[in-house]
Amino acid sequence: MKRPIIAITIGDPSGTGAEVTPNAVVKDPVEGWKKGIVSSFLIPDKVILDPELTLSLPPKITAETGIDAFTHAIECFICNKSNLMSDLFALDSIRLINNYLRRAVKNGNDKEARYYMAIGSLYGGIAITNSGTGGVHALAYPLGGKYNISHGLSNSILLADVMEFNAKAVPEKFIKVAEIMGIETTNFPKEKVVESVVDEIRKLVKDVGITIEGFEVSEKVLDNLATLAISEQQRLLENNPRPILYEDARQIYKNVLFN
Ligand SMILES: [Fe+2]
Repeated sequence: MKRPIIAITIGDPSGTGAEVTPNAVVKDPVEGWKKGIVSSFLIPDKVILDPELTLSLPPKITAETGIDAFTHAIECFICNKSNLMSDLFALDSIRLINNYLRRAVKNGNDKEARYYMAIGSLYGGIAITNSGTGGVHALAYPLGGKYNISHGLSNSILLADVMEFNAKAVPEKFIKVAEIMGIETTNFPKEKVVESVVDEIRKLVKDVGITIEGFEVSEKVLDNLATLAISEQQRLLENNPRPILYEDARQIYKNVLFN
């Protein structure tokens, strides 16, 4: 029998959306990588979402968890399981996070920014519950385990490059994301608009102070990461709008870690 769960967002950094998802992530100390648990038993019956509890969150964590929330939203919108219900929440989550994350990172006491980040994160979580994440999360789990970095940072490192990879498969969805992010869509060819979305995502990650450098990488590490992603993350990879095969995963890791 399911026991009632009341979730209070103490310590929730406006990122996971865990208060409304059936997901939990744990690191396997033996194998060294992160695993997701999905169960309806993890969905709370009541949620107390109080953005004031996030006011003291440091800029670095605000940035990384905020990009995680953005990743939930955009992956849910472009993925194979997307639907009218999840799109509603995913698109508004993209809009809110794009508008308020920079402000929340710059001034942690900006209550308006914290409020809308909390709502954006919540909407991202609702989108996940009705749809699901994809390639960014699939490749992020092995990366987080390998380098012992946060889930948000792992996603931030991969986000723009996986979106660039996906754009060819669902260009119309990227046009919609462009509109939501305030990117000019009229008078530009479709390919240019799609490119601008990827550029804007890369800029958002950079603007909130996330740097992608300092990883020790070797050809063997790339092999290991790609092998783990392909063998252990099929649940997420199957939801990605463009199939990610071993060579694709390896190339994406190479692009983000070597550059
Ligand atoms: Fe996530």
